[in-house]
Amino acid sequence: MAMKALILAGGLGTRLRPLTYRMPKPLVPLLGKPLVSHIIDPLPAEVDTVILAVSYMREALDEYFSTHDVGRKIILVNEEQPLGTGGAIRNVSHYLDDTFIAFNGDVVCSVDLNDMLRYHRSHGGIGTMALWQVEDPSAFGVVGRDIRGRITAFQEKPPKGEAISSSINAGVYIFEREIIDHIPSGVVSMERQVFPNVLGKGLHGYEFKGYWVDCGTRENILAAQRTLLDLGGGKVSPELIREDDAALVGTNMVLRAHLRGCRVGPHAYIEDDVLITKGAEVSESMVFKGALIEEGAQVHGSIIGPDCVVAKGEIVRDQVLART
Ligand code: GDD
Ligand code: MG
Repeated sequence: MAMKALILAGGLGTRLRPLTYRMPKPLVPLLGKPLVSHIIDPLPAEVDTVILAVSYMREALDEYFSTHDVGRKIILVNEEQPLGTGGAIRNVSHYLDDTFIAFNGDVVCSVDLNDMLRYHRSHGGIGTMALWQVEDPSAFGVVGRDIRGRITAFQEKPPKGEAISSSINAGVYIFEREIIDHIPSGVVSMERQVFPNVLGKGLHGYEFKGYWVDCGTRENILAAQRTLLDLGGGKVSPELIREDDAALVGTNMVLRAHLRGCRVGPHAYIEDDVLITKGAEVSESMVFKGALIEEGAQVHGSIIGPDCVVAKGEIVRDQVLART
């Protein structure tokens, strides 16, 4: 039976500014593919429609989906004012059927949704939340569970030291339509105002292995890039123009760029029409279309937006640069 998926993508991407002044977070490329496509591509075959709940830079998303076939019907729903994670779900409820999948739009992970669906169907209840283990859960939603996997407590961003476990909400859910009855109208946080109230209806936790990254910050999106490159996503385009012994170190993805006597890697993603010149070094970074890294410049742990110039000898470390 056909199924729908909902992606919550209404955040402003504040922690990736200034890049996200020009490009909504869901379209930020991770190894050449927009973040949102990292969610859409692995969806189970039965998902034929994806609803994107957005509230920021809707035009850019419209434009992207009207020019790229992602293999599923895409419905963009705009919120005049951001309604919160709960309000956003309620706002699209007329599109949803009995069972649907929902995602935080900034999460890139290896969860097997077919297996999670089987788990959800066999455990029953109002929903299933994917869980991931972290060392410091204070920046996330934290769950406590009983031995049958039922979530018995939910704390959103507990103060350091007060978390009840190290299992966090991974931001991937399977819900029954009934969840909507528990979302009040207006601006509502799923995490703060809904989850704590539906525990009695059977909200289960589903653990998975592999990788999980919330790509909301420079550090985290670069960590996701590192993970995917090391898993074998790295490639060098045949059109790559490499001159004067330019060196590629470790796993990288380099598209149609010009590399001249420079050192690139490890963990660099270099888009089309980038020029990296003599003596320059780029590592643990993303360099977008049309950027120029001049002689002797260094770029480490950074995101260099489209058409940016890193001047001769300049050192850019742990920064997000973009033309605004
Ligand atoms: N449509 C819409 N409207 N989407 C929204 C809104 C809104 O008002 N507010 C947030 N979102 C989207 C964001 O774009 C993001 O994709 C997702 O909902 C989660 O919001 P974040 O702002 O990124 O939340 P967080 O990272 O601090 O915490 C959430 O994610 C953690 C995992 O990454 C929570 O769900 C935590 O419990 C969870 O552990
Ligand atoms: Mg987030």
